[in-house]
Amino acid sequence: MSRDVSLLACPKCGASPLGAAPDALACAACGASFPIVDGIPDLLVGERFSDESGCDVWENEEKTGRFLASNYLLPLVQRLFPGRDPRSLRVLSIGCGVGSDVEVLGAAGYEAYGVDAGGRPQLWRRRSHPERFFFANAKHLPFRDERFDFVFLCCVIPHIGVVGDTYVTAPGYAEERQRAWDEALRVLKPGGQIMLSAPNKRCPLDLFHRKFHWVHLPRVHSPFEGFLLSVGEYREQLVARGGCRDFEVLPLEGYWGFFISSGYWLGRLLQLPIRLVFKLMTWEATRWLRGTFLNPWLVVRAQKG
Ligand SMILES: C[S@@+](CC[C@H](N)C(=O)[O-])C[C@H]1O[C@@H](n2cnc3c(N)ncnc32)[C@H](O)[C@@H]1O
Repeated sequence: MSRDVSLLACPKCGASPLGAAPDALACAACGASFPIVDGIPDLLVGERFSDESGCDVWENEEKTGRFLASNYLLPLVQRLFPGRDPRSLRVLSIGCGVGSDVEVLGAAGYEAYGVDAGGRPQLWRRRSHPERFFFANAKHLPFRDERFDFVFLCCVIPHIGVVGDTYVTAPGYAEERQRAWDEALRVLKPGGQIMLSAPNKRCPLDLFHRKFHWVHLPRVHSPFEGFLLSVGEYREQLVARGGCRDFEVLPLEGYWGFFISSGYWLGRLLQLPIRLVFKLMTWEATRWLRGTFLNPWLVVRAQKG
């Protein structure tokens, strides 16, 4: 299928449209040219994210992304846009990694797009809509303003402004993240919905980032570290700075497939209390717990004003 260049804007100067040639996209305003590498436009401005790679990591991400999109994102989008025909909604996964979430949403009828600045784009060619993926930086998105109804960033903001693929923040990380916040809200339509997720800064056990993926122990961290964000920081960005309304911390059931931990007996044992906590926070009476240190994983949502 052909690429819809009418959505695109130059990630360097913001001008649109971009001129399309078979092997490049070009900006007439600033003269920048962006090569199309193996079918995927390279619209990266700024640094590439040097992330962990390897077939077993990618295989897990593939399954996790499919599970997340089928069990969590699809019901969420249906709830947020009741009665809407999926074909009338355009959605964007920023930092989509392997892109299986985008594929599931696309198969459900949504016009789903993905961008990422790491090492996964080589996997996008096999997607049913490879023309909807762009190698790009969350801080310089290659889209025109107000194009998307639903924008989501699953565990992406903490990885911006860090040293390599670590949990150590680099000088200036707050400004770098600010660019990503501004860009995510810029491409969202007024009235559109934004969702973000990542481990909870206030929970001292980070179950999702480990030194090596084969070490099955949580990362113990300060509840004030710079790497992760708290509910208060999400609210500050979305509501106070971003002008969003209807801010909500979402329940977690259906988010995680627990694929790695289900593969060994200790993991199956350790996932029980986590599943219980996830279940506990699903109920209305206990929703206040979702923002506390007891919750290891935050999912927040808001509507652009
Ligand atoms: C922890 S992974 C999450 C991937 C996927 N969203 C998921 O939930 O499985 C973080 C992703 O963010 C991407 N990323 C990090 N910094 C980025 C940036 N500045 N722009 C775009 N993507 C970025 C990485 O390449 C990686 O794919």
